[in-house]
Amino acid sequence: MYAFLLALHSLVRWLVVIALVVSLFTTWRGWLQSRAFTAKNRLLRTCTTAISHTQGLIGIVLYVISPVVQYFLQHFGQAVKLREIRFFGLEHSSMMLTGIVMLTIGAYKSKRRPAGKEQFKILAIWYTIAFVIMFFSIPWSFSPLTSRPYLRPF
Ligand code: HEM
Repeated sequence: MYAFLLALHSLVRWLVVIALVVSLFTTWRGWLQSRAFTAKNRLLRTCTTAISHTQGLIGIVLYVISPVVQYFLQHFGQAVKLREIRFFGLEHSSMMLTGIVMLTIGAYKSKRRPAGKEQFKILAIWYTIAFVIMFFSIPWSFSPLTSRPYLRPF
């Protein structure tokens, strides 16, 4: 179960990144070019929220069952000084939850506005904040914080 969810969480990360990059591109373009907010844009907004929430839920389950997090919680005093353990026990989880909340606020607020430039503007701003937080909290192979593989076999 743990190995499967870890591999799934690693894979779904790519869906989150792709959904956010496409969303950033379309919302900034829509805002700057004053485009109409169409059914396709609504669908993309729903998919981006759904993918991120799914990844968040997998992350929460992982948080509960991960031996890394269990070590962090049980040996807090020492573990908080170990960068990799602290990253998953504290930094990654809290930053990702923050990013997901930002993205959700953007989607919620944009739904309350009349279709058009204003919706793109709200989404572009909140998605940009969410993307920056989330991108730098992913344990990329090149990350100075903690490195994990780009893909994990199931
Ligand atoms: C959309 C947001 C998220 C993305 C893109 C993401 C991405 C990742 C990636 C790429 C890994 C490394 C997987 C591997 O070792 O191959 C990871 C690990 C982990 N994530 Fe997330 N994550 C997200 C949200 C969350 C959330 C919200 C939580 C918990 C509240 C969480 C908890 C964890 C834990 C506990 C691990 C490490 C498990 C272990 O090594 O034992 N993640 N995450």
